Amino acid sequence: MDTVLSGIRSTGSLHLGNYFGAVKNFVKMQHENRCFFFVADYHSLTTHPKPENLQDSVRSVLSEYIASGLDPEVATLYVQSDVPEIPELYLLLNMNAYVGELQRTTTFKEKIRSQPDNVNAGLLTYPVLMCADIIIHNADKVPVGKDQEQNLEMARKFARRFNTMYGVEYFKMPEPYNFGDKLIKVPGLDGTGKMGKSEGNGIFLVDEPSVIRKKVMRAVTDAGPTKPNSKMSEPVKNLFYLLELLSTPDTVQFFREQYKNCTIRYGDLKKQLAEDMIAFTSPVRKRILDIYHDDDYLKKVVRMGAERARASASKTLRDVREIIGFKPF
Ligand code: TYM
Repeated sequence: MDTVLSGIRSTGSLHLGNYFGAVKNFVKMQHENRCFFFVADYHSLTTHPKPENLQDSVRSVLSEYIASGLDPEVATLYVQSDVPEIPELYLLLNMNAYVGELQRTTTFKEKIRSQPDNVNAGLLTYPVLMCADIIIHNADKVPVGKDQEQNLEMARKFARRFNTMYGVEYFKMPEPYNFGDKLIKVPGLDGTGKMGKSEGNGIFLVDEPSVIRKKVMRAVTDAGPTKPNSKMSEPVKNLFYLLELLSTPDTVQFFREQYKNCTIRYGDLKKQLAEDMIAFTSPVRKRILDIYHDDDYLKKVVRMGAERARASASKTLRDVREIIGFKPF
């Protein structure tokens, strides 16, 4: 039985990229594997959330995980900051992570560009904390989207380095995972790039139908195909990508034919896409709201998750301390 683990930063609500890139995969895997899913609230500190918002974001992500089909009785669902073994392992791993390699990480370089006023050390060592998250349970598979591929590569590098340094075969090499075999990148509605939390180009699971309609109708397209079988522009390709995720194969086929013979009206495609998104998100949205307001239930879930996660994490940390050479006097 494989150990499967993944996490989501608590910096906003889940969007369709998070769902199709990661959450859908966990949900499918939870019954056949030893599964750990967590809310990465330490990671969210890199963007300096206000203390009064911190817990609320965690509550939202927990509710969204469960509403998406994650069963906390089956999988271990926990909050990262409830497991102090994670920051301890992070500290130990930091001693063997080199500034040069961390500075070369693509996500770090992107952050330098996007938030030049807040290039904190937490951003630099973000991949080390991610590695600690993963190897604290010695995970085999990590369901994530394409954007996390390099972080996973770093996690394997740090795990391998630990094994080599101490001459042990303790940590396994965690692999990024997607059911459909390759990691995916769900595009946003702004024509280029991935759907993201802060890019303003996403559809969130909690979006009201009217909001979804408005966002989709405003999605970027082009002037339309002018001759049969013309090459698709990136924004239109992206709309078809979303259609393939959310609509029936017949619908996709219908619009593809229309594109091919130049009769397509993007307005019709967008209307259909918006309705299919609403059909998908509406039941999830309702469940999110119910769970979000159920204090007793969430308290129970978090307590149970922390207990199970700590049982696994403390065993790893005990072993790691011993391997490093810490001994009781
Ligand atoms: P985060 O919160 O940015 O995203 C959560 C998950 O959603 C995936 N994802 C996408 N997949 C496809 N298309 C998209 N447009 C898209 N946008 C987001 C991400 O790949 C991710 O799987 N650092 C992580 C959280 C984390 C973590 C971990 C994940 C912390 N520790 C350990 C795995 C293992 C993050 O910020 O994800």
